[in-house]
Amino acid sequence: MKNADLQSRRLAATPRGVGVMCDFYAQRAENATIWDVEGREFIDFAAGIAVLNTGHRHPRIAAAIAAQLDSFTHTAYQIVPYESVVTLAERINAAAPIKGPAKTAFFTTGAEAVENAVKIARAYTGRSGVIAFAGGFHGRTMMTLALTGKVQPYKAGFGPFPGEVYHVPFPSTLGGVTPKDSLAAINQLFKADIDPKRVAAIIIEPVQGEGGFNVAPTELMQGLRALCDEHGIVMIADEVQTGYGRTGKLFSMEHHGVQPDLITMAKSLAGGMPLSAVCGRAEVMDAPAPGGLGGTYAGNPLSVAAAHAVLDVIAEEKLCERAAALGERLVARLRAAQKAHPGIADIRAQGSMVAIELRTAAGEPDADAVRRIQQRAQERGLVLLSCGMYGNVIRFLYPLTIPDAQFERALGILDEALQA
Ligand SMILES: Cc1ncc(COP(=O)(O)O)c(C=O)c1O
Repeated sequence: MKNADLQSRRLAATPRGVGVMCDFYAQRAENATIWDVEGREFIDFAAGIAVLNTGHRHPRIAAAIAAQLDSFTHTAYQIVPYESVVTLAERINAAAPIKGPAKTAFFTTGAEAVENAVKIARAYTGRSGVIAFAGGFHGRTMMTLALTGKVQPYKAGFGPFPGEVYHVPFPSTLGGVTPKDSLAAINQLFKADIDPKRVAAIIIEPVQGEGGFNVAPTELMQGLRALCDEHGIVMIADEVQTGYGRTGKLFSMEHHGVQPDLITMAKSLAGGMPLSAVCGRAEVMDAPAPGGLGGTYAGNPLSVAAAHAVLDVIAEEKLCERAAALGERLVARLRAAQKAHPGIADIRAQGSMVAIELRTAAGEPDADAVRRIQQRAQERGLVLLSCGMYGNVIRFLYPLTIPDAQFERALGILDEALQA
C-alpha cells in the first residue's frame, strides 16, 4: 500500500473538515517512533497531540490493556460498576492539587470533560455565566466551542453557540498583555457585561495549548483565585493538554501553588486510550443529582486499566523530572539556534511544553516559516506540530520516554530544518 493511494482514497471517502496534517499513513509505532506504510521512519514530536507522554505502546500499558481484555471490555460503569474506576478516582484525588477532599468523575474526550466541568459549576452555583480566555482551546462540541477563543478554523460557520460566555485577553509578553490587564478585563466585564453573582465559572488553560503555548504567570493564577473566592465563582483549570507530567509536574497548576476548584484532564491520562476526567472539590463535584453526569463509555475498562499503568510509569520512570530535564535541553538548543535565526521571536516553555514563535523581520506572525520548517523536518524524518492564533508557533510534544540518543537525533534534524 502506497501513501499516495491512501491519500486519494481518504480525500474521496472522508470530509475535508477533518483536516489531516501528514501525507503519510501510520503502519506501526513504538515509543517515539512511527513507521509509515512504505516503511519510512519518523520521530514523533507530536505524540498524538500530547496524548503519548508515556510513548507509543508502552509495554506496561499494553500489558494492562491486554489483561483487562481477558476480563471484560464494557459493562457501562453506570449499570454494573467495577473497582478499577474507584481505585483510579482515589489515586487522582490523592494526586491532584485540589483543596480538601476531592472526587473524580470519568468521561471519554477532553471536550466532554470540559462540558461536564461547566455543568458541575452551574449546578453548584446555580449561575450560568462562564469566563474564558481569548486564544484558549477547549474542544469541538458546542459549549466548548463557545469557550474556545479562536475563530479559525474551529468556530467559523458553526454558530450560534451557547450564551453567557465571555472572553478576556490572556497574558502575552510579545502581545504586551500583562496579568494585571487580564484581571482588569474581568473586572471590566463585571462592570459592563455581567454581574459577578451570575458567573458560575472561570476556565483557564495553565499553558494555552492550541493558542500557542502561552504560559500563565503565577500572578494571574493568584488573581483569578482571589476573584473566584471573592465572588463565589468556580475556578476550572483545563489541564487536558498540560496534565500528566508534560510540564514537569503531574499537573501544571502545581507550579503556581494555586488550587483550582475543578481540573479537567484527558489526553495523556490513559496513554492513547480514550479517557477523560473531572477532578474537583467533593462538595462541588456532588452538586449534580444522580444521573446528571456520565456517558455510555465513560470510564471504559480498557482505558481505565491503561490509566492505572500510566500513573505507575510516570512514577517509576520519573517522567516529571524527565520532562523538566528534556525541556531544559531543548530550550538551550533553541536559544543557540535563535542567535542564527532571528525569525525565532520567542521561546516559551514549562517543562517539556516547549514552543517557538516565528515572526518576520517586520515583526509580523510568520506562518509560512512554520510550514517550511515543518516540511523540512518531516522530509528528514521528524514530525512537528504548529499552533498559535496565527499558526506561527511550533510546539514540541515528544514522548517523555524518548531515548536520549533519539532525542539528540531529533534536535539535530531540528537544527537543520531551522537553518535550511
Ligand atoms: C486544553 C484542551 N482542552 C480541551 C481539549 C479537547 O479535547 P478533545 O479533543 O479530547 O475533545 C483540548 C484538545 O486539544 C485541549 O488542548
